[in-house]
Amino acid sequence: MAMGYSDKVMDHFINPRNVGEIENPDGVGEVGNAKCGDIMKVYLRVEDGILIDVKFKTFGCASAIATSSMATELIKGKPVADALELTNRAVVEALDGLPAVKMHCSVLAEEAVRSAIKNYYDTHGIAYNPALFAGLDEEHDHGDLAEEV
Ligand code: FES
Repeated sequence: MAMGYSDKVMDHFINPRNVGEIENPDGVGEVGNAKCGDIMKVYLRVEDGILIDVKFKTFGCASAIATSSMATELIKGKPVADALELTNRAVVEALDGLPAVKMHCSVLAEEAVRSAIKNYYDTHGIAYNPALFAGLDEEHDHGDLAEEV
């Protein structure tokens, strides 16, 4: 087991679920971590308030890929409002843990989902409490890497 990764992390890294993009998505979010340079993009398809499809593209480490994969699995088929409650902790638990130095990768996955939902709300004229997305835009410096995804 490399670097103390669980079997589930290895499984979702080697065989990630929901990789790809959705054409004309109802919501799309992109976040990056300025320190490691990893970037995640999440696409949403929404019908009657339900996330009928979720896809992702991650340019990043094994944990970033595994957490994106698990995050999309956890929210697919759920109401949008439920997906907004997804925490990085829930993603880590579903993966049977992550090494401490890799916890920020799960934070990135949570934020990619939240960013995509914010975009869905914004582009569909759905009112929301801005506090729900507090801190989402400030923490990230997408830098030039964003162009490469
Ligand atoms: Fe930064 Fe994994 S090392 S997201």
